[in-house]
Amino acid sequence: MSNAAEAPIGIFDSGIGGMTVFGAIQALLPHERLIYLGDTARLPYGTKSAETVTRYATQTTRALMRYDVKMVVIACNTATALALPVLKAALDPVPVIGVVEPGARAAVEASPDQRIGVLATEATVRGGAYARAIHALRPQAQVSQIACPLFVALAEEGWTQGPVPELAAERYVSTLFQAGRPDTLVLGCTHFPLLAPAIAKAAGPDIRLVDSAQTTALEVKLALGRLGLLRDGAPASPQFLVTDAPERFVRVGGQFLGQSIASSSVELIDLSPAA
Ligand code: DGL
Repeated sequence: MSNAAEAPIGIFDSGIGGMTVFGAIQALLPHERLIYLGDTARLPYGTKSAETVTRYATQTTRALMRYDVKMVVIACNTATALALPVLKAALDPVPVIGVVEPGARAAVEASPDQRIGVLATEATVRGGAYARAIHALRPQAQVSQIACPLFVALAEEGWTQGPVPELAAERYVSTLFQAGRPDTLVLGCTHFPLLAPAIAKAAGPDIRLVDSAQTTALEVKLALGRLGLLRDGAPASPQFLVTDAPERFVRVGGQFLGQSIASSSVELIDLSPAA
């Protein structure tokens, strides 16, 4: 194992939602050192302009680079959809992996008839990145999409079960289905897997739900393998960086991950340009 393989993988999201991707990477690559950055002070990204999201994502990934990461995973569909090429260029030669292409791949692999519905943030829907990624893989696929901004707030609140998320899911899903019934729904925001039970209930039993967490984790593994950067040392404890409310991250992040997060592993950082 090279010294470079010892370096951590940096993972970033606007908030806690990217922990769904973090959990999948941790499960698939238990020997890797992981640093997760949640830009909790500036969430949501999904309602903001491409310029603002690109600026925020550039600042957050730059902060991760201070930890000498060997790879950066953009565990946020919005930042991937709007800023991936800019981030790749800015961080070169450090490899950058986003979640949209893996999510699109999971969708086309799961969909029997290539009728795919995308649930995402406003910014991801507006940019059309999912439709492009799906069509690049299956040009004949029918893609419909809907923005579900309320899901982000519900997930950040840890309010993922019961009548409120179910009502929101029912409203979004039935609106999407007015344009035709997909056979597969892709959860095109890393916060949405937390609401999967409510979304599945609204969609009905015949519709498949997919997200990008597992396929992104697999892509991380393959890319590290190709680069000779897989770590095989003893499993290391993860480190978490947040831009606001660390105690909230410990509480809700632990729910997301399904395991408790030690408050000593969460550090508050400042991303303002002067910092
Ligand atoms: N988790 C982010 C995503 O995957 C969205 C949350 C937000 O709006 O900041 O798009």
